[in-house]
Amino acid sequence: MPRKLILDVDPGIDDAVAICMSLFDPNLEVVAVTSVGGNVPPQQAARNVQVILSQMDPPRWPRIGAATAPEHGLPTEGRRIFGPDGLGGVPFEAAVRRDLHPSEKVICDEVRAAPEAVTILALGPLTNIARAFLRDPQLPSVLGQLVIVGGTVSGPGNITPAAEFNIYCDPQAARAVFRAPCTKTLIPLDVTNRVELTLDILHRLPDENSRVGRFLRKILPATFRAYRQELGLESIRIHDVVGLVALTHPELFSFVEMAGDVETMGELTLGATVFDRRRVPAWRHNIAVATEVDKQGVIEEILRSLHAAAAASEL
Ligand code: BDR
Ligand code: CA
Repeated sequence: MPRKLILDVDPGIDDAVAICMSLFDPNLEVVAVTSVGGNVPPQQAARNVQVILSQMDPPRWPRIGAATAPEHGLPTEGRRIFGPDGLGGVPFEAAVRRDLHPSEKVICDEVRAAPEAVTILALGPLTNIARAFLRDPQLPSVLGQLVIVGGTVSGPGNITPAAEFNIYCDPQAARAVFRAPCTKTLIPLDVTNRVELTLDILHRLPDENSRVGRFLRKILPATFRAYRQELGLESIRIHDVVGLVALTHPELFSFVEMAGDVETMGELTLGATVFDRRRVPAWRHNIAVATEVDKQGVIEEILRSLHAAAAASEL
């Protein structure tokens, strides 16, 4: 039976690619795509989710959740890497619904509808997940699994010297989620950064005869341009896609149980993830953290999955 999945996203091109892959994966049943502010403001995140879904037009549409801003607002720095609209400035038409339920309600409904059978893949700030746990305090105990892309164990951050973007956007929410009593896995920046996609990937994408191929060929070249202009890099990182592969192919990763928490007050360290790795730790293990990755294996799996998604979305 396919695994029921909620994608919580702030699209973002890497979120968008993860959505394309999941929608056509026969081993997954995407029951909801819930939007959250992060790479783009909340309304734009909800719009982008609808753009991506209408571009993909999967046989079975998932429920969609609307994003609202975190209590403390989003950091003004934002992420420029995916352009101001999050999808590389490519003009896409979509009929945008304004009557969506809030993401946290959709998450609560779907998890309650299939106790212990739903996995949440959190690819943006943890605002919605924390709110869902606040709305329904027993929810963590009936959630199957939570996989989070975010944080960093040993490496530097990517939005401040200490913090990774998703956690930095809403550190209070991240702390609440790290402390929640559910099965959690973290795919940190140390690991997602190792999977570099080089320009030759553009020649290995599915062709334009499928909805997936047509969409990828529009958005991925913009990402290469942005990485070159903003970061001086010739290769790109698609963090959220690595997170999805960690869920579908955990054998390509190594995981270590750790005791983790989130800095919510530091002047220089706000949003940093902190792990108690002392010889005699005082904190309890609360999260499995990916520490190693078979980089080439992940890249091959991404390509395989994109081609399978293209075959399932032929025009
Ligand atoms: C995360 O930050 C976002 O910009 C990406 O979409 C990804 O979720 C990586 O730090
Ligand atoms: Ca993201």
